Amino acid sequence: MVSYPAKLNLAQTPTPLHKLERLSTKINGPRIWIKRDDLTGCLTSGNKVRKLEFLLAEAVANGCDTLITSGGVQSNHCRAVAVLGAQLGLKVHLLLRSDIDPAPVGNLLLDQLVGATISHYSQREFKQLDALFTQWQDHYQQQGAKPYSIPTGGSNGTGVWGYIAAAEELKADFACENISPSTLIHATGSGGTQAGLIVGCELNNMSVRVEGFAVCDNVAYFERKVRDDLRQWQQQFAPQMDIEGMQINTNDHYVGPNYGVAGPEVFATVKELAALEGVILDPVYTGKAFHGMLEEIRQGHYDRDSDIVFVHTGGLFGLFAQQDGLNY
Ligand SMILES: Cc1ncc(COP(=O)(O)O)c(C=O)c1O
Repeated sequence: MVSYPAKLNLAQTPTPLHKLERLSTKINGPRIWIKRDDLTGCLTSGNKVRKLEFLLAEAVANGCDTLITSGGVQSNHCRAVAVLGAQLGLKVHLLLRSDIDPAPVGNLLLDQLVGATISHYSQREFKQLDALFTQWQDHYQQQGAKPYSIPTGGSNGTGVWGYIAAAEELKADFACENISPSTLIHATGSGGTQAGLIVGCELNNMSVRVEGFAVCDNVAYFERKVRDDLRQWQQQFAPQMDIEGMQINTNDHYVGPNYGVAGPEVFATVKELAALEGVILDPVYTGKAFHGMLEEIRQGHYDRDSDIVFVHTGGLFGLFAQQDGLNY
C-alpha cells in the first residue's frame, strides 16, 4: 500500500458532489453529477490547490522561501500559487506567456494584487522555458534565497497526489449518494489531474472510466505527458506498483481553435448551464470539456441510464478576461 506524503491543508475540502437535476431531465439522461472543485476556496478556486497542498508542503519542508512557476497570462495555476504564496509568507515569481501587452484583468489582476513578481515572455521566448527556470533559480540562489520551482500546472510526481486524494473523496461521495458512476469527466491541460484521477481510482478500487477532455494538444501528447507524470509518481512514491497497464483516455475532439480560444458553442454552453443550474464554467477549460461531454451524449456515446460525474476544475476568473465572448 502507498502512503501519502506531507500535506498542507490549504483547500476547502471535501467539495460538494451534486446532481444537475434540470440538465439531466432536459437531455433525457444520463444523470449528470458535478464535483464542485470550483469551491476549493474563493481565491484558490479550482483544481490547482489540491496539487499545491502537496507541492507546497515539500517546499516548506525543504526550507524554501521563493516559489517560481509558469503558465499562460491567465493561468489559474499561477494565480493559485500567487495567492497561496502570499498566505504562507513566501515570495512568488511568475513566468507568464503573453504576446501582447496583457490587460490587468481576471487571474492576472489577482496575481498583481497579492504581490507576485511577474515576468512576461513571448510565445517564442517561452520555448526556452527550462532555461528561464534555471536563470531565475540561479538568480535567487545568488541572492541567498532558496527557490522552489513548480512546473506548469503543478503537474509532476508530487502534484499527482492532489487528485489521488480527490479520488478517495469521490469514492466516499459515491457511497453517500449510493451511485456507481460509469464515467468521470474533466478538462485536461498539463495532465496532472488526469494522472491523479487514474491512479487514485485504481488505488481505491473504483471501476469508473476516467476521461480527460483536452483543452490543447492531442491524444498522443496526453498519452506521453500523463504517462510521464505517472512514472515520476511511481518512481518517487510507489516503486512496487505497476502503472504501465493503466489506461489513459483522452478525447481531443473539442479543443476548438486553440488553447485559450473557444468557439461560440462553448460560450453558449457556459450561458446555458449558468442559467439552468446556477453553475459557472469558463471558456478555457471547463466550458470546453462540458460542451464536449454534452456533444458526446448527443451522439449516444454514453448509456442514458447511467451516472456521469463531471469534475468542475474551476477557472472562473478566466471568464472575466473573455467576457466579450458572452455577447451581453
Ligand atoms: C480550470 C482548470 N481546469 C482544468 C485544468 C487542467 O488541469 P491539468 O493541468 O491538471 O490537466 C486547469 C489547468 O490548467 C485549469 O486551470
